[in-house]
Amino acid sequence: MKKIICIHGGPRKNGNTRAVTALAMDAARRQQAEIVDIDATTLDFKVPGCLGCHKCQKSEEFLCSLGDQVAQTVATLPAYDVIVLSTPLYWWSYAAQLKIFIDRMYSLCKFGEDGKYRMALAGRKLALIATAGGPMENNLELLEMQWRIPAEMMGCSFESCLFPNVTAAPGTLVDDRAIAAKAREFGKMLAC
Ligand SMILES: Cc1cc2nc3c(=O)[nH]c(=O)nc-3n(C[C@H](O)[C@H](O)[C@H](O)COP(=O)(O)O)c2cc1C
Repeated sequence: MKKIICIHGGPRKNGNTRAVTALAMDAARRQQAEIVDIDATTLDFKVPGCLGCHKCQKSEEFLCSLGDQVAQTVATLPAYDVIVLSTPLYWWSYAAQLKIFIDRMYSLCKFGEDGKYRMALAGRKLALIATAGGPMENNLELLEMQWRIPAEMMGCSFESCLFPNVTAAPGTLVDDRAIAAKAREFGKMLAC
């Protein structure tokens, strides 16, 4: 049974990103996966992001020393087989609320001075579910790269499910059968 944690970065609770992600997670649940949903937009934090204090690099633990809700949630990630990021495309990147969370993931990496890295997420799967509104071709490519490259660096596999050119009203994207099927298929694949 796969354990999946889904980090939601979309600020619109009724948005299309959350709607397609809900379908994907529902499909994974139907394959007996255990799903934990985290709303990154409501997590409490002492500072918005990483301070660059490097305390996490000096300790043996994979833990951000700020100790707030973002730190505590990030520290749980190694307990999962799959870590899903769900976000709308904001300025060719992920939403800022997610950036706060992702920067703290530095605490899950030990960058040894001898060049030897230790990664708490090695062997896990990182996944991305994203929507974008603009008509530009490949406009989700940059965002995908921003998650695929760290995945490779941390020794993780990577999968993405991208929905470009979204013009549907908030939450209605899933009314499109092909879109709904794509989201469900992705969730099913993550659970296997
Ligand atoms: C602040 C902001 C920035 C955005 N930046 C982009 C962008 O760079 N490229 C793009 O194609 N769409 C952009 N969009 C459109 C959203 O990515 C798109 O509408 C998305 O599907 C919204 O998802 P939601 O319904 O879950 O909120 C932006 C929207 C907002 C509000």
